[in-house]
Amino acid sequence: MDRTFPFGFPGATAFYLTIYVLTLVIHVLFMNYVLAGTGYLLFCRWRDGSGSIADRGLRAGDVLRDWMPFALSGAITAGVAPLLFVQILYKENFYTANLLLYHRWMVILPVLIIGFYMLYLLKTQWIERRSALTRGVVTLGALFCFAFTGLSWTENHLLSTDTASWPGLYESGSMVYYHRELLPRLGMWAVGSIPTMALLVAWQLYVLQRSGQEPNELEPRRLALLAVVGIALSVGCAGLYGYQMTSEVRSHVTGVLAGPFLLAGVVGLVIQIVAWLDQGKKTRFCPRALAAGSAGLLLTIIGMTTVREAIRLASIDVTPLYVRHAESAEKGGLYVFLAFFGINAVLVAWAIRLTRSRVVHSAD
Ligand code: HEM
Repeated sequence: MDRTFPFGFPGATAFYLTIYVLTLVIHVLFMNYVLAGTGYLLFCRWRDGSGSIADRGLRAGDVLRDWMPFALSGAITAGVAPLLFVQILYKENFYTANLLLYHRWMVILPVLIIGFYMLYLLKTQWIERRSALTRGVVTLGALFCFAFTGLSWTENHLLSTDTASWPGLYESGSMVYYHRELLPRLGMWAVGSIPTMALLVAWQLYVLQRSGQEPNELEPRRLALLAVVGIALSVGCAGLYGYQMTSEVRSHVTGVLAGPFLLAGVVGLVIQIVAWLDQGKKTRFCPRALAAGSAGLLLTIIGMTTVREAIRLASIDVTPLYVRHAESAEKGGLYVFLAFFGINAVLVAWAIRLTRSRVVHSAD
């Protein structure tokens, strides 16, 4: 690859790669909120204890508990578009990994349904009346469901790139695949989700702050600390992951193909740290710091999602698929896709508005 992503590819392939990365970024935003948010809820369950919101001020856990089922449905819905594009892009590699993992792959559907209902359970009055242990067990159950789903996606992804292991896995009949990159890669996703969740919750608390519902004055500092710790841990996991890479893959990541995106990701991290240090000094949420943090976060997520693709392109030769990408591009579904994307975005925004107005109305 002698040109920066996606310019070294023919038009149709470049188009699918770009739209795949951009739609995956949306999935990552929601997925990060769900993964880190459920982990944070587990922590709050023990820390927050009782006490009315009016006495102690709004906390991140209050917002997370309220919005988590919506965020999960967002993560699932936003997963559909990249799921379509990844199949067009990598065809056999993706399908074969799915088939080899078999029931183990399909089990993510019932697991996600169980996780969904656990999140709803966490919002009920019934669970509020139960002991801290019961609440902790339900939250842990939900976290397990989402961690298992994340593990399955990482396992499937690595298996799709490791064609040499396919015959052995098929012969053994095993539905579990292990790769030495599995843990550092999963670790990166897990801790990398923390800064996104902290920022999205901070924006939510800011909106509530503007409408007169005061957040607890320690919450800006807590979220800033959490985000910075998340960033530091992500850098550690990324270092470990980079250390495990072969020199060929590393040259893809740092070279002309993805090097500029790696740099963008690092610049984004620096912007996020500066923004959080600014926010952490304040007792109220500050839109200027949050906006700067959001710019940094987007830069990091887009940069790292592109680097992730460069790593896959180092293992899978897509050259024989160029013709099939061009054929797919001629099918003419783009306008239908964009139309439904627009319609669904409007419907989701309308549903949020409707719910917010009902909440405000019932509070009056
Ligand atoms: C809470 C539920 C979910 C979690 C925690 C989750 C987590 C993840 C993670 C960690 C990855 C990155 C894997 C890697 O690069 O190693 C990923 C990728 C992906 N996820 Fe999700 N996911 C969830 C639900 C879904 C659902 C329901 C769909 C489909 C409708 C979906 C579609 C995708 C797609 C298409 C990719 C990219 C796969 C690839 O390029 O190999 N995800 N997800």
